[in-house]
Amino acid sequence: MKIAVAKELDPAEPRVAATPDTVKKLKALGAEIAVEPGAGIKSGILDSDFTAVGATVSADALKDADVIFKVKRPEASELAKYKRGALVLAIMDPYGNDAALKSMADAGIVAFAMELMPRITRAQVMDVLSSQANLAGYRAVIDAAEAFGRAMPMMMTAAGTVPAAKVFIMGVGVAGLQAIATARRLGAIVTATDVRPATKEQVESLGAKFLAVEDEEFKNAQTAGGYAKEMSKEYQAKQAALTAEHIKKQDIVITTALIPGRPAPRLVTAEMVKSMKPGSVLVDLAVERGGNVEGAKAGEVVEIDGVKIVGYTNVAGRIAASASGLYARNLLSFFETMVNKEKALAVNWEDELVKATALTRDGAVVHPNFQPKTA
Ligand code: NAI
Repeated sequence: MKIAVAKELDPAEPRVAATPDTVKKLKALGAEIAVEPGAGIKSGILDSDFTAVGATVSADALKDADVIFKVKRPEASELAKYKRGALVLAIMDPYGNDAALKSMADAGIVAFAMELMPRITRAQVMDVLSSQANLAGYRAVIDAAEAFGRAMPMMMTAAGTVPAAKVFIMGVGVAGLQAIATARRLGAIVTATDVRPATKEQVESLGAKFLAVEDEEFKNAQTAGGYAKEMSKEYQAKQAALTAEHIKKQDIVITTALIPGRPAPRLVTAEMVKSMKPGSVLVDLAVERGGNVEGAKAGEVVEIDGVKIVGYTNVAGRIAASASGLYARNLLSFFETMVNKEKALAVNWEDELVKATALTRDGAVVHPNFQPKTA
């Protein structure tokens, strides 16, 4: 059983899919591990750190690998190096990327999309959306603090009082909850909103104030899977009116709102941005999925009349060492379910985790959600 740890091709991707800690555990499962040179360097892991735990470092790591651990979906040039039948575990970003899924099917690999892992108790330890969103939520507050020309906590000094910053978190999933906790630790006055009623208690338990249009639609806005539904135009209008008044008075707004498989909801209009005081900061964590904030640009900090809109992409990657550590653990935990007692690769195709994440197999796209459309 040969496992390869890939070096990410994308220069903007500093994470790596294994760490010395997970390599040790993979070896204990009976695997041989080959790492591409420099794979861990942007996460602070040297090639020698990998060899010290028994991995080999080789430019040919991918050749003959039965399993490939990656962060991002493989590109065509990478697929050309994989052997047919290889299992590839990565964040595959499958929605709206039919051509890329077909390329993976054509390459004969078995592609597993880690972000499709069901959110059930057994799979919590494999949940890459949670592990990465948690770090992104933390980092969004740090990025906001960096862009903000004032202090976060209230400070009473001989020269006068510095007021506490007012921080508003929109979207209280995993990232939003961590953003609330981080902003609170920094001493900000924190409010938050979400369309799922379950979040109200969570927000309050973190010492922040909850703000939302709590009508009938709100009471039913959570799917059985725990995600948000796309809200009606009417609800969005009511929500916008409520938040417009609130945003005017905020120093920092952090948006994290997502709906699985859909574009991110537009929560902050250009007008709302305009209503904020110069020096205020917005951080749009949904920028890669279309953005919650009008005017946000992926990978950029836009300034409009003194208000900054921070649109960094791959925010978890901005704390790459921590992000890689958790991601590598997620991958290891999933992979452990694919190895039998005889230390051989034994994927159980009937396992719900496998069914939910396997995108391609035997030359075809097998996932029910991504079947090629027949005209
Ligand atoms: P997400 O990343 O899909 O979305 C972020 C947040 O945006 C969600 O809270 C969502 O309700 C909110 N949102 C969507 N539309 C909105 C709008 N128009 N206005 C305001 N907010 C809006 O969500 P994430 O972080 O993946 O978490 C979703 C749920 O899954 C949460 O309930 C979380 O606690 C739960 N979860 C369960 C796990 C488990 O049981 N293993 C693991 C991780 C999360």
